[in-house]
Amino acid sequence: MNFPTLKVILLRIYRFYVKKHLNKILISLLLSFGVAGSTAAIAWLLDPAIKKMFIEQDKSMMLLIPITIVLAFSLKGASLYFARIILIKVGNEVVKEIQIQLASSVLKSDIHTIESKHSGKYLSHFLYDVNQVNQLVSSGVLNLMKDTLTLSVLISLMFYQNWKLALFALIVMPFAAFIAKSLGKRMGKATTESAQVSGSLTSFLSEMIKGSRMIKIYQQENFELNRSTKLITSMMNKRNKLGFILIRATPIMEMLTGVMIAGFIYYSGFMIASGEMGINNFFSFLTAMMLAYQPIRSLATINMLFYQGAAGAERVFNVLDAKPNIKEIESYPGLKINLGKIEFKNVSFSYPNTDEAAIKDINISIEGGSTAALVGHSGAGKSTIINLLPRFYDPNKGEVFIDEQKISNVSLSSLRKNISMVSQDIILFDDTIRANIAYANQTATDEQIIKACDFAAASDFIKNTPRGYDTLIGENGIRLSGGQKQRISIARAVLKDSPVILLDEATSSLDAESEEKVQNAIINLTKNKTTLVIAHRLSTIIRADKIFVLNKGKIVDTGTHNELLKNSMIYKSLYSKQLSS
Ligand SMILES: Nc1ncnc2c1ncn2[C@@H]1O[C@H](COP(=O)(O)OP(=O)(O)OP(=O)(O)O)[C@@H](O)[C@H]1O
Ligand SMILES: [Mg+2]
Repeated sequence: MNFPTLKVILLRIYRFYVKKHLNKILISLLLSFGVAGSTAAIAWLLDPAIKKMFIEQDKSMMLLIPITIVLAFSLKGASLYFARIILIKVGNEVVKEIQIQLASSVLKSDIHTIESKHSGKYLSHFLYDVNQVNQLVSSGVLNLMKDTLTLSVLISLMFYQNWKLALFALIVMPFAAFIAKSLGKRMGKATTESAQVSGSLTSFLSEMIKGSRMIKIYQQENFELNRSTKLITSMMNKRNKLGFILIRATPIMEMLTGVMIAGFIYYSGFMIASGEMGINNFFSFLTAMMLAYQPIRSLATINMLFYQGAAGAERVFNVLDAKPNIKEIESYPGLKINLGKIEFKNVSFSYPNTDEAAIKDINISIEGGSTAALVGHSGAGKSTIINLLPRFYDPNKGEVFIDEQKISNVSLSSLRKNISMVSQDIILFDDTIRANIAYANQTATDEQIIKACDFAAASDFIKNTPRGYDTLIGENGIRLSGGQKQRISIARAVLKDSPVILLDEATSSLDAESEEKVQNAIINLTKNKTTLVIAHRLSTIIRADKIFVLNKGKIVDTGTHNELLKNSMIYKSLYSKQLSS
């Protein structure tokens, strides 16, 4: 990261996240004065301690000076403690705010944007990157304030005790600044690399856990272990690299301090001998210089904290700044549903970053309240057509209409409010059955939920679960059978009670009894609703008022089951190969 970018990012962090906590930071600045003052006081106290107590043996000072030393140390400890507490709070507030913004931004993102990045990368933004910003805000800001102040006060004390020696010490300081600058750059690069590895590691781990069954049946434990070992090792190497850069300053600083102290003892030997400096000044100076070592070291590495934090913030900001293409526009009118007629006019669509169009020149018209079926080979574009209706994607060409209104010209919330979707792969949350169904309508009463389940032929099996509607179903419904999951998702759609229903029939075959139950559930769901169903089951297809046969992204035939059996070659072959089986 170059310096101008760093500046821009730091300014943004300041303006949007830190500025509102300025009063707290001011308090910790005051406390930093306390830290600096008491540190210098400790060094200074050695001067009177030696002079009054040891040389002049002044009895009145025998108790006073030790007490003052205890006070100075206590003041330093207390100030540091409270300053840290305050900045830990500020750092955590900033983290909270960024995490909430990230969550909100992911929720508003386009399906395409979300799906083009592995979910593990998002986790890494939430956990790893945000923590880097936290370090910057809490440690970075505090160290900057307290160490600069402490260092200034200590240097002043050194000048006070002996300006010649202090000048000599100052000559060595620019070296430290120079070292710090070169370290910061390397640090930035290493941080970016380790963030990338952290992203891959979270992605990998989440897949490893989700894919546990697949791993076992294909016996790929060793393969996966090798992969994780590689990633974890590379993560370790990156951490090593970061750690090494971070402490690289230490030996150099130690050596510089050694040179300084040696040179200065040599020089002060002459000055004490000639009476130009007292032994009390010497010890106070030495203490100040030793105490200056910690803030110098901390300041020498502080730019790394800033670079690391900025690098984390940059990755987070990239997510926050992504502008969704499909978003709510407040000024758009709401969708007015009459009968729920659906029309596609010359619609073409290709997925981002693909050459071939997934669907081409689609013209379909579905009367309000009727059921239309889409049939076609796998990959023909059936799910793609369905995904355009709730505007998960927008067509590249052509328009989709509901009741003569362009769906791209009505408010997104009004559009999606009127559409229910039961998809091929069912998404359930790790919560109770009730909560999963009520997802369609968070204010639904128990009666409404039970009625929806009756409709979806789900009541019977729910009653037989140990806790009924309060049964926890596990991650993505792991504790339910395939057919049960389907019926829960249908009950959810029933509860939504929207005029348009999109149904991507699951291909997984159920036993005859469950099959019949799911079929009945679907019949109940779609009654008097405009339904577009991707049909794999013969019973669904026969019931449809209109069937569209899709081949390689184009509608090739349209009609009822009997018409198509007579006229459509593709339909006939689909029917004989797949549907009858
Ligand atoms: N997210 C995506 N990104 C890129 N290409 C995609 C994406 N989803 C689908 N495709 C491509 O678009 C084409 C149509 O896919 P679609 O999912 O619509 O098929 P389908 O008819 O629903 O098939 P199936 O019956 O197997 O579900 C396929 O060639 C597929 O490779
Ligand atoms: Mg599909």
